[in-house]
Amino acid sequence: MKPLLIRSGHIIDPGQKIDEVGSLLITEGKIAWLGKGKEAPSIDYDILNAEGLVVSPGFIDLHCHLRQPGFEGKETIATGSRAAAKGGFTTICCMPNTNPPLDTGDTIEYVKREAAKDAVIRVLPVGCISKGRKGQELAPLSELALAGAVGFSDDGDPVMDSELVRRALEYSRSSGLPVIDHCEDTTLADGGLMNEGRVSAQLGLRGIPAAAEENMVARHLALARSTGGRLHIAHVSTEGSVNLIRQAKAEGIRVTAEVTPHHLTLTEEKVAQCGTSAKVNPPLRTEKDIRSLIKGLKDNVIDVIATDHAPHTEAEKQTEFALAPFGISGFETALGSLMALVHNGELTLITLISKLTCQPAGIIGDKYGRLGTLAVGAPADVTIFDPDKDWLVDTATFLSKGKNTPLAGSTLKGRVMATISRGKPVYKDDSIKIETKQKINV
Ligand code: DOR
Repeated sequence: MKPLLIRSGHIIDPGQKIDEVGSLLITEGKIAWLGKGKEAPSIDYDILNAEGLVVSPGFIDLHCHLRQPGFEGKETIATGSRAAAKGGFTTICCMPNTNPPLDTGDTIEYVKREAAKDAVIRVLPVGCISKGRKGQELAPLSELALAGAVGFSDDGDPVMDSELVRRALEYSRSSGLPVIDHCEDTTLADGGLMNEGRVSAQLGLRGIPAAAEENMVARHLALARSTGGRLHIAHVSTEGSVNLIRQAKAEGIRVTAEVTPHHLTLTEEKVAQCGTSAKVNPPLRTEKDIRSLIKGLKDNVIDVIATDHAPHTEAEKQTEFALAPFGISGFETALGSLMALVHNGELTLITLISKLTCQPAGIIGDKYGRLGTLAVGAPADVTIFDPDKDWLVDTATFLSKGKNTPLAGSTLKGRVMATISRGKPVYKDDSIKIETKQKINV
């Protein structure tokens, strides 16, 4: 692999507190140096001119659905990883609601093997909490951990049995791997189709109350407190959940939390405007919830942003609202939609990047090398983006098989221009040229 010099970009690496214009040299898949005014060694380089662009550590997504095995009509590891690379992601954690579910060492090994063959970026599987995701019997958690699971979740469905969650949290103390819960009290949420509130009443659709999430967040926090286990709360969507997590963190409970780009930027009104493409679980909530989620991000009550990329086929989504599956295809619009929060002054660019890089890396740990940083010696996972580029969301150009997004047809400001995974360009906008040059000053 020829060395790659990313030249004169705005390097932002929150983990190292770097925020300066400079260049970055990659050799043999690792970061070799970064800085400015240095003379690059006298060898042939591939050069990518990053003038006017932001150069950040590759984005890390703790929560996505790649649908393989079993639902390859919706997505595969090959298509999902390419879509993720186009969205700037270099590490993604895929959820186990596949068929069969990822509840044995063999199924975890299968995903790792297919990813080694077909994926263009790092794919890390999440194993099930319960056998068959049925919520009745604990999955063989140590077997899953040994095979390479990075956490445990029955995502898509909650685990209603508190004793099962308690035992999973107890196990997390020795494995160090988080229990990632989809918090939804099914006795309140079942049959619900969207947020319970004004819009659901207007549309005559059965609602999912905020309390369905908050009940379960509270229960999990109580179990994390009593076990000392490691809890990660998936896709937080309500003000009440943010308040509960805030209180738990102040108490010293070992909890981390994530929020999706859609819960940060879209409200329940989108359901009235866009129909099934805005049907997602947890549902899009209200402006007031968004305000709390953003405040939670700023205060570090919410540690990371995760896409919950949930691709479905067009046929599945083009049906009556009650029958359509929940989910939004999120990899390719994540940065563009999140940049609105930076452009309107609600988040700094550094905070946003930290939620996509060093903070999720801290949850995964360093088993896969130093992720989420441009530190010398770390794997060369790099995302290069234009923070100001306007672009139209045209789902025909998506690399994901899932075209299900309520953002179709809208204009976003901020676009990924190139993604480098382990030193190799795995996505490049047509306007980005990589030239070969000899010794230069950078
Ligand atoms: O909207 C969702 N879709 N929420 C989930 O929790 C699961 C996901 C899926 O698998 O489609």
